[in-house]
Amino acid sequence: MEQTFIMIKPDGVQRGLVGEIISRFEKKGFYLKGLKLISVDRSFAERHYADLSAKPFFNGLVDYIISGPVVATIWEGKNVVTTGRKIIGATNPSDSAPGTIRGDFAVEIGRNVIHGSDSVESARKEIALWFPEAPVNWESSLHSWIYE
Ligand code: TYD
Repeated sequence: MEQTFIMIKPDGVQRGLVGEIISRFEKKGFYLKGLKLISVDRSFAERHYADLSAKPFFNGLVDYIISGPVVATIWEGKNVVTTGRKIIGATNPSDSAPGTIRGDFAVEIGRNVIHGSDSVESARKEIALWFPEAPVNWESSLHSWIYE
């Protein structure tokens, strides 16, 4: 089944939003397949955001990601990449709908609390980067109550 990489950024950790954010993905019915609290260094953050290296906000973005620990997670489920992005909300919290994570908990684009992979291909790359040990393999006993 499809997997995505979701990271609670340093502001989300500092503000005590870890439980709330994990809870939203759990309650939706997605399966948690990887979870760790981790501080990353500059070169790791630059690899994660390599596609954005030419952007004017790149250095500020990297400074922000390395400013404190983040919570790295893997979630699995049908359409989890696209649905995960909907749960997160638009990149700029001014445009994120209420009810989304950024819509409910963020104000500024440079402090938008959470990252989610934007495609199945980026999810594959990001999971490989953040979880070289591979996702945890387990089956939910509630599967038939979530999927028909
Ligand atoms: P991006 O990949 O475009 O958005 P998303 O996180 O929704 O996939 O950008 C990555 C992060 O870069 C974004 O979450 C916040 C930051 N960012 C800025 O600080 N300023 C900007 O103008 C943009 C577009 C992004």
